[in-house]
Amino acid sequence: MAKKIFAFNLKMNKPDINIPEYIKTLEQSSDIVYACVPYVYLNEFQNNSTCLKFGAQNVSEFKNGSHTGEISAKMLSEFGAKICIVGHSERRKNGETSYEITEKINRLLENKITPIICVGEEKEMNFKKAIKVVKKLLDELNLPKKQKDKLIIAYEPIWAIGTGKVPSLEHIKNMCKFIKEYLKNFNLSVKVLYGGSYNENNAPELNTIKGVDGFLIGGASLKILAVKQILNLN
Ligand code: PGA
Repeated sequence: MAKKIFAFNLKMNKPDINIPEYIKTLEQSSDIVYACVPYVYLNEFQNNSTCLKFGAQNVSEFKNGSHTGEISAKMLSEFGAKICIVGHSERRKNGETSYEITEKINRLLENKITPIICVGEEKEMNFKKAIKVVKKLLDELNLPKKQKDKLIIAYEPIWAIGTGKVPSLEHIKNMCKFIKEYLKNFNLSVKVLYGGSYNENNAPELNTIKGVDGFLIGGASLKILAVKQILNLN
């Protein structure tokens, strides 16, 4: 069976144990584990990780220059980042545009950092309508063509993020399938994650969905006991 991807998104938080212990736990997993952390913790992750792939939750769309408060993809790579979330709905709602997200993806790829690109419908809706929304978001992104396994798409219905609500297994399965098949038209082979209220309790059920390569995890990534359960560690 293919290894699953578990991408932990700390958002603007610290986990409930110290970072070296947190890293040690994540490194015990035999699955593929990523940690997306606040910039200011990158140094600590770089100093304490042996095999963990870690990274950030945002990046500048620019290469360098007079962009006060921004962090470039090159800087991230100098701090050992291998992965970076882009286009999270919590950033889109503050005005981040598809054009900016595309530029960020390009900067990351130039620096050999894998983007985790978030898409998802805002409100609960039927599958046909949700597909239209997701297709439009993908089209707007103008993703770089002919990339094999260099992009990760996170399907995150916005209404499921941090709410405890999760779409039906059928909805998740079909949407992940749609995303993969749609992007094949552009010579893109991508991994697809599900994100939105994934936690230690619903993990056993959600893990059974075929065609879902893994999960993007917010709230549950802060609690070490939940993390251990998700990763099946003792
Ligand atoms: P959640 O967040 O797991 O807390 O719903 C997921 C995310 O925002 O990536």
